[in-house]
Amino acid sequence: MKRFLYGVVMCLLGVVLMRSEAFEVQVKDDSSKVCISASMKVNFTIQYETNNSTNASVTFGAPDEVTTNGSTCGSSEETPLLVVNFGNNHSWSVNFTRNSTAYSIDVIVFTYNTNDSALFPDAKRKGLLTTMKSVHEPIPINVTYTCLHEEVVVTENVVQVYWNVSLLAFAQNVTLKQEFHCSEDASSTQAPTTHVVTTANATSTTPTPTTKPVDKPIVGNYSVSRGSEKCLLASMGLQLNATLLVDGQTRWTQFNINPNSTISSGSCSNDSALLRLNDSGTTIVEFYFSVRERNFYLKEVNVTLTNASGISHITNYNLSLWEASMSNSYLCHKEQLITVSEDLNINTFDVRVQPFNVQNETYAKAEECFADSDLSFLIPVVVGAVLVFLIILVFISYLIGRRKSRTGYQSV
Ligand SMILES: *[C@@H]1O[C@H](CO)[C@@H](O)[C@H](O)[C@H]1NC(C)=O
Ligand SMILES: *[C@@H]1O[C@H](CO)[C@@H](O)[C@H](O)[C@H]1NC(C)=O
Ligand SMILES: *[C@@H]1O[C@H](CO)[C@@H](O)[C@H](O)[C@H]1NC(C)=O
Ligand SMILES: *[C@@H]1O[C@H](CO)[C@@H](O)[C@H](O)[C@H]1NC(C)=O
Ligand SMILES: *[C@@H]1O[C@H](CO)[C@@H](O)[C@H](O)[C@H]1NC(C)=O
Ligand SMILES: *[C@@H]1O[C@H](CO)[C@@H](O)[C@H](O)[C@H]1NC(C)=O
Ligand SMILES: *[C@@H]1O[C@H](CO)[C@@H](O)[C@H](O)[C@H]1NC(C)=O
Ligand SMILES: *[C@@H]1O[C@H](CO)[C@@H](O)[C@H](O)[C@H]1NC(C)=O
Ligand SMILES: *[C@@H]1O[C@H](CO)[C@@H](O)[C@H](O)[C@H]1NC(C)=O
Ligand SMILES: *[C@@H]1O[C@H](CO)[C@@H](O)[C@H](O)[C@H]1NC(C)=O
Ligand SMILES: *[C@@H]1O[C@H](CO)[C@@H](O)[C@H](O)[C@H]1NC(C)=O
Repeated sequence: MKRFLYGVVMCLLGVVLMRSEAFEVQVKDDSSKVCISASMKVNFTIQYETNNSTNASVTFGAPDEVTTNGSTCGSSEETPLLVVNFGNNHSWSVNFTRNSTAYSIDVIVFTYNTNDSALFPDAKRKGLLTTMKSVHEPIPINVTYTCLHEEVVVTENVVQVYWNVSLLAFAQNVTLKQEFHCSEDASSTQAPTTHVVTTANATSTTPTPTTKPVDKPIVGNYSVSRGSEKCLLASMGLQLNATLLVDGQTRWTQFNINPNSTISSGSCSNDSALLRLNDSGTTIVEFYFSVRERNFYLKEVNVTLTNASGISHITNYNLSLWEASMSNSYLCHKEQLITVSEDLNINTFDVRVQPFNVQNETYAKAEECFADSDLSFLIPVVVGAVLVFLIILVFISYLIGRRKSRTGYQSV
């Protein structure tokens, strides 16, 4: 569902922002034959530390104006390399490996220049920073790999979101126009169709449309740093439940925060703390912690959703959740509900947070929520104990019975 929604959002954004975030390049060999051809849209979300020791994050796309200096078609010794340079000394490159039937991207290298003060105002570390990621999805030789769907690559401090990707390397015959679709595109060509069918059924039979339940969210580990030290630790699985416009109908829709495409940032002080989770730049959830007496608690939640028609902020300023002593951490395995507005709920799973007094990057003693200590967890224990007792009872009576019959037999 989330993928589908994003698909819709991406397509529309793609139209609106046609000019930015996209590039199209070709690399040619000495005889001017194209060996690599690529076009894609890509957004980079980068988390960096500022001079005042807060974490900031910036999202920007690769512009349509790029150069390919440094690229090579490769040779018998050298593998092909595609280098895309843009903006103020930023660059993105991929090199390739191949066997007889398939090739794949070997490593994605992204280098960004924090001297670029337009993008990184006030960055503490200035210079060229590089992150790498190896990816190995085999692509058949001589076909063009295409993927309209978002693909997310996460490296330290950087989330790269790609979509509308078209790539051909080791091109021997660019005249061949065969395409290889990524698996997400292949499955999504069916997803909207089945979706439409469900809607039609639902409207004709019941007034409330049925949507497929969404999987339990994956628990992500997040942190906020102050200077070189972590000052806030959090881990949780988050599922948002919001009224969204789907297929022309407004309905409750669930989607999960994917830790793989989420970066955390925020700030810490002595009496307040902020944790900001940014999933792919499209869903941002902010948690504000405050202090009363000697306890901390979750006071505000601010959700920013980006959809085709724009950005919406939804905030609840007046919460009183996740309370624990300042020097401890808060723990709750049970699913909990945060009502942010009439139109947006968040279901949280396996929450552990410590917004203050983090030492040595580890959680302090956990104060567990009441739900976890619910007596209901005793029920299986009691049932189990009763069962074991019954089994023992049956066994003993069996032994006694056997003994009796044996002694009876012997006495004959
Ligand atoms: C840190 O600097 C950023 C931008 O330079 C500013 O927006 C922010 O308010 C500052 N934070 C603090 C705590 O001074
Ligand atoms: C990409 O970044 C730009 C800001 O530079 C933003 O407007 C756009 O919504 C982003 N797109 C995606 C898909 O994240
Ligand atoms: C990139 O190549 C073009 C010509 O191919 C050249 O004019 C330009 O100076 C080169 N840029 C860099 C940074 O090497
Ligand atoms: C691709 O580039 C990476 C990083 O520069 C390097 O470690 C790797 O060996 C290269 N792969 C090939 C096949 O040359
Ligand atoms: C390229 O395609 C043409 C026409 O289909 C064919 O004749 C030629 O052999 C192909 N070249 C290579 C290197 O595959
Ligand atoms: C989060 O941290 C816990 C405890 O350190 C660890 O067991 C778990 O694998 C981590 N999860 C992820 C997604 O890194
Ligand atoms: C989403 O929220 C609505 C309204 O509160 C509720 O009826 C529905 O059961 C929720 N769905 C899930 C999966 O939590
Ligand atoms: C997008 O957000 C706006 C503002 O919150 C909302 O009115 C609209 O229904 C949303 N559209 C979709 C497609 O979810
Ligand atoms: C997140 O990444 C891990 C390993 O990097 C992978 O096993 C997992 O399937 C990914 N989860 C999602 C939801 O993409
Ligand atoms: C919610 O977060 C967004 C994005 O960080 C920010 O622009 C907005 O001012 C925040 N709203 C409130 C009420 O804090
Ligand atoms: C901090 O953690 C490290 C490694 O886990 C350990 O060696 C060290 O003793 C810890 N320090 C404190 C003050 O707990």
